[in-house]
Amino acid sequence: MAISGKTAVYGIIADPIGHVRGPTLFNPLFEKLGMDAAMVPFHVTATSLSRAVAGFRAIESLKGWLVTNPHKFAMFHLCDQVDASGTRLQAVNVVRRNTDDGRLIGGNYDGAGFINGLRHDGIEPKGKDVLMLGAGGAAYAIAFALAEAGVRRLTIANRTRANAETLAVTTRKFFSGFQVEVGDAVAGSQDMIVNTTSAGLKPDDPLPLDVGGLKPSTVVVDIIMNPEMTKLLTLAKDRGCRIHLGRHMLDSQFPLLARHLGVPIS
Ligand code: ATR
Repeated sequence: MAISGKTAVYGIIADPIGHVRGPTLFNPLFEKLGMDAAMVPFHVTATSLSRAVAGFRAIESLKGWLVTNPHKFAMFHLCDQVDASGTRLQAVNVVRRNTDDGRLIGGNYDGAGFINGLRHDGIEPKGKDVLMLGAGGAAYAIAFALAEAGVRRLTIANRTRANAETLAVTTRKFFSGFQVEVGDAVAGSQDMIVNTTSAGLKPDDPLPLDVGGLKPSTVVVDIIMNPEMTKLLTLAKDRGCRIHLGRHMLDSQFPLLARHLGVPIS
């Protein structure tokens, strides 16, 4: 890749930054499309975000950037316009800087990436009875996306029950008539169980689910990417369940992020 005076610059902002996958995914795409463009990491801390974004606004060759932890919520307030999904979540994970007027247009594709990931893997959420574990940032994106995708019923179970109650109330506010309730993290007759908690990142983490009643007909999903096979997924696979890996959510989101950034991907 040859950088010249004409190269369009894209960024990714995060803190820490070392683990991000954006440049590794986007630079080969730019090359494949014959684009004179490059994605670079910008290590920005939470306290410097607004100053960094003010600077970004002034850089004509900067076309946009991906947004990851801890900036998704703060970046929402620094955009000039945000799509419907980002507005519901009050969080963005990508920003385009309009070439003509320099306006910052935010989007959030976490939920859409999750649903597309399921569908690409041949799993249709519509009409399903779903148990979701967790009520953190990722759970909000997934709950709203499942509601939009037409699941029949969503039960939310979380270690801190009050957080699950708040998520259920918020989901009902945006999707009136949608059947969403708070329940226990116990496997039973559900069609699909989705782990959005961080339990499973470390080898000695507790299982986020009481798996006693887990049936082979239940699809088990984990959004944890590393390790790829969490304890929950390994156990579910051993029980004969269909499993869906965490990496699909990001892989399926990639074309949506590219389109938002104005990259001409088919
Ligand atoms: P993210 O933005 O990645 O979703 P988060 O907002 O910090 O991260 O949310 C983490 C989620 O994992 C929460 O639902 C958290 O439960 P609490 O609301 O009780 O904090 C859940 N979680 C974290 N560690 C857990 C554990 N060991 N067992 C069960 N749930 C856990």
